[in-house]
Amino acid sequence: MSTSAVSAAEPYLTQQDYSAYSDEQHAVWAELVRRVMPQLEQHAAREYLDGFTSIGLQADRIPDLTLISDRLRPLTGWRSTPVSGFLPAPAFFEMLATRRFPTTTWLRSRESLEYTPEPDIFHDVFGHVPMHAHPVFARFLEDYGRVCAATTDAMVLEKLGRLFWYTVEFGLIRQMGRIKVYGSGLISSHGECCNVLGGHCAVQEFTLDAVLETPVKVDEMHHLLFAITSFDQIYDAMREAERRATKGRL
Ligand SMILES: [Fe+2]
Repeated sequence: MSTSAVSAAEPYLTQQDYSAYSDEQHAVWAELVRRVMPQLEQHAAREYLDGFTSIGLQADRIPDLTLISDRLRPLTGWRSTPVSGFLPAPAFFEMLATRRFPTTTWLRSRESLEYTPEPDIFHDVFGHVPMHAHPVFARFLEDYGRVCAATTDAMVLEKLGRLFWYTVEFGLIRQMGRIKVYGSGLISSHGECCNVLGGHCAVQEFTLDAVLETPVKVDEMHHLLFAITSFDQIYDAMREAERRATKGRL
């Protein structure tokens, strides 16, 4: 990691003013958790649920990012690092490459429980961070950031963006013969989760080629998602994507 790479994220780093959250905001967090948790206890990947416990997430309080990172860092070296908002791609990739997950500190209001145009702390922490406690997922995500940070090729970034989308954001895994969710966009959205679990979305076996050939559509519910059978699969896929990118053949 060069000094200039690290500094790309610098202007976006901020603090979480934990004491500034109101009782109403903590109540909104609790409501968000209450809406999805019964479904997740049945349908979330084992690794997500284990991570939820091991990073010390609470159902009724907005997470204190310092405390979350204190629990997470000894497990995998990842941290949940407060940022001021949406990050440009180079800053985002460089934070991932150094195992810092850019985390927004604002929370949606009660009027928009289901949808926010940009990620909030519920999406970022509840949706993403529990998976960062899993060692293989943790390495996969660091590698993703490192490989993306090393290129400016728009087509390579477009393809790698699909890999991110169909794993980190909307990934599924087959466990005990059933489809489970681990992607943050599914974990943190009741509607997206119901769409998949209700059978309204085709589920195809994950392969790197299939994912790289499937464009991302952000403005509609998914019609096709991909299921892995183990997190080693996405780690291996990332290594293969890196080999191909290096040879200019992604
Ligand atoms: Fe996300």
